[in-house]
Amino acid sequence: MKGVILAGGTGSRLYPLTKVTNKHLLPVYDKPMICYPLEKLINAGIEEIMIVSGRGHVGHFLELLGSGSDFGVSIAYEIQEGAGGIAQALGLARKWAGTDNLAVILGDNIFEDDFRNDVESFDGGAKVFLKEVPDPQRFGVAEVNGSRILSIEEKPQAPKSNLAVTGLYLYDARVFKIIRTLKPSGRGELEITDVNNVYVRKGEMEYGVLSGFWSDAGTFDSLIRAGMMVQQHRKKQVESVARR
Ligand code: DAU
Repeated sequence: MKGVILAGGTGSRLYPLTKVTNKHLLPVYDKPMICYPLEKLINAGIEEIMIVSGRGHVGHFLELLGSGSDFGVSIAYEIQEGAGGIAQALGLARKWAGTDNLAVILGDNIFEDDFRNDVESFDGGAKVFLKEVPDPQRFGVAEVNGSRILSIEEKPQAPKSNLAVTGLYLYDARVFKIIRTLKPSGRGELEITDVNNVYVRKGEMEYGVLSGFWSDAGTFDSLIRAGMMVQQHRKKQVESVARR
C-alpha cells in the first residue's frame, strides 16, 4: 500500500497564522503539523508516500522532509493549484499511485491510534475510521447500522449520529475513477464524502471506531486542543517509562 498526505487548501480559518506560512508547517506541541500524519503512515508500515500541497511554501516542505531518507521512506511531491477540495487533491496522485491500494490522510489530522493492522488486512473497497465527537456538525458524519455504514453526510445541520468521519481513508485504485465522476459541491469543492458515499452505495465501505484521541487542527480551537492532546500523551509516555 502507498500513502498520500493531503496538505493543500488555503488554511483560511487560521489566518493570519497562515499569512506567511502553510497551515501544515505550524507547530502542534513540539513538531510541525505535517510530521504527525507522516509518522502515522510510516508506523503503519507504508514506505512510499506522496505529499500533495499548494503552490506556496512547497519548498519549505521539501526542506523539512526532503527525500524521506531520514525516515527510511521515499517521499514524492505534487502540487495542487488552487483549493478545489480534498478529492481533487487526491486525484493528483493517480499516475504515481498506479494500481496500488492507498492510505490517504489529511495533513491536519492528529491520531493516537495505530493503523498497521488495518493497512495489512485491507483487501479492496474502502475503509473509514469513526470517532465519537461532541460537535459532529463540523465533520463528515456517518449513520451506521451494525457493521454497515448507511450514509455519510458532510457537515450536516442535523447530524444523524455523533460519529465523525476522521481524515484517514483506505481505498483501492478504483477511487480515481470515482473522483473523475464528481461534481463540485455547494462550497465549490470535490468532496471526499461524495467519494465515500459511492463505496457506501456499492456496499464496499468498511469502518472502524477509534479508541485513542483524534483531532483536526484547522481552527484556532482545534489547533490548541491537538497540541494539548499530544502534550498529555507525551507526559503519559514519560511516566510509564519512569515506572518501569
Ligand atoms: O478532519 C476531518 C474532516 O475533514 C472530515 O470529517 C470531513 O468529512 C472532510 O470534508 C474534512 O473536512 P474539513 O472541511 O475540515 O476539511 P478542510 O477543508 O479543513 O481540509 C482538511 C485537509 O485537507 C487540509 O488540512 C488539507 C487538505 N486539503 C483540503 C482542501 C480543501 C487539500 O489538500 N486540498 C484542498 O483543496
